[in-house]
Amino acid sequence: MEESKKIALVTGASKGIGKGIALKLAACHYDVFIVGRDVNALEKVSREVSGLGVNCAYKAIDLSLPESAEAVVAAVIQEYGQLDLLVNNAGYASALKVSETSIDVWDKTFALNARAPFFISKAAVEHLQNSTKPIIINISSVVGFKGYANQAAYASSKHALTGFTKVLAKEVQPLGIQVHLISPGGVNTEMVQEMRPDIDTTELIQVEEIAEIVEFIVSRKGKGTIDHFYIRRGSGLPFD
Ligand SMILES: NC(=O)c1ccc[n+]([C@@H]2O[C@H](COP(=O)([O-])OP(=O)(O)OC[C@H]3O[C@@H](n4cnc5c(N)ncnc54)[C@H](OP(=O)(O)O)[C@@H]3O)[C@@H](O)[C@H]2O)c1
Repeated sequence: MEESKKIALVTGASKGIGKGIALKLAACHYDVFIVGRDVNALEKVSREVSGLGVNCAYKAIDLSLPESAEAVVAAVIQEYGQLDLLVNNAGYASALKVSETSIDVWDKTFALNARAPFFISKAAVEHLQNSTKPIIINISSVVGFKGYANQAAYASSKHALTGFTKVLAKEVQPLGIQVHLISPGGVNTEMVQEMRPDIDTTELIQVEEIAEIVEFIVSRKGKGTIDHFYIRRGSGLPFD
């Protein structure tokens, strides 16, 4: 029997890791809904994703605004009538020490990296619980567990996302919703090129490697609980 169509919402998919995940999900036969602020970039990604033979709708919206979380989930439901997979990927990073961090930077970082995933997930749960394979994937970072100097607001916000993910995973397990956290080290995108221009880009994790983890999550058949994927650059020490 043919499996029913699955719908994925991917935030921050106008470029970088989110774009890679959207393309991978299309290859896994998901219809996709992508979100970012840059409407031209979203349109371009949407065409690329649709080229793989699935539907791809998009919405240009600033997820750091409080009202955006419910608006985005409502837009997905209006477009497709269901939601099976939520990937909270959109993120903002700045290379600032504690002493250099303003309240504005702190608020902007937390609004996107911590508050948006919290409230998008909150709005998504009532729809996900109707899915036959409901999944939430939050994209954190190694700095969701570690403290690197000069990443004050960013590391704090990713710790908040990690904490939220641990709570959410337990609360929605009885509803059959799987929650996963992916915590990468440096990935070859614009974000890391701006944050860490000192790192040789050939050393960085490739976007495809993060997309492959998502592919594994959505395609695995096992029932065992898998929660956290921690991936560092090839030169990174294992278990560090
Ligand atoms: N690159 C790394 O080394 C690395 C490592 C660990 C974790 N991560 C995490 O991975 C995720 C993706 O990062 P990336 O490297 O792909 O970054 P990126 O290339 O800078 O892409 C960020 C994405 O988020 C979207 N975005 C940013 N601000 C937004 C806002 N206010 N509202 C809606 N969308 C917004 C951007 O779209 P618009 O520009 O169109 O708004 C873009 O699609 C982030 O959560 C990041 O923290 C990255």
